Amino acid sequence: MTRFLSIYSDLPDEDKETLRVIDRSCFIGEPHVFHRQDLIVMVADEEGSIMGFLSVTTKGFVERTGVLPKFRGRGLQREMIRCAMKRFNKLRTYTRRDTDGRISAWNFVECGFKYVRKSDEFFYLSWKRARRRRKKIKGTV
Ligand SMILES: CC(C)(COP(=O)(O)OP(=O)(O)OC[C@H]1O[C@@H](n2cnc3c(N)ncnc32)[C@H](O)[C@@H]1OP(=O)(O)O)[C@@H](O)C(=O)NCCC(=O)NCCS
Repeated sequence: MTRFLSIYSDLPDEDKETLRVIDRSCFIGEPHVFHRQDLIVMVADEEGSIMGFLSVTTKGFVERTGVLPKFRGRGLQREMIRCAMKRFNKLRTYTRRDTDGRISAWNFVECGFKYVRKSDEFFYLSWKRARRRRKKIKGTV
């Protein structure tokens, strides 16, 4: 399956509407409010139809991530997480402890996130880019 990943900041209002529709197919409860400053990673098929999204606040908090039911089980969430990781040095998130929340938490862990806390309801995870070791230059004056 061909897929295209895109990153947006300052998403236009009409695209936000599309995002809201997809969000409704992934989550029950209150509709999520996407803010203008959020960084949005989207994965689309060759016709440009969106299959999934991930939103990150300017402070590196992964706020919302969903893949449309018919495209699940193909590793799309992990691809979007890795895409966001290229843009930030630190990220954090939390997931519910229900079935999809667990799948989501595993995907974050597979991408390098660590559990920082577990409550009865949520998993809290974070990731920090490893600092590169400076090479010691031997023998120079
Ligand atoms: C959680 C979610 C984002 C995972 O997205 P995804 O791209 O399907 O994730 P993956 O492809 O890695 O699938 C993870 C596992 O789920 C299973 N799976 C989930 N849905 C599946 C489906 N419809 N068909 C087959 N396998 C499925 C697979 O076993 C897969 O494990 P594997 O990679 O070891 O085979 C997606 O299920 C979702 O949008 N859920 C609703 C919203 C939500 O709860 N988001 C998380 C908020 S905390």
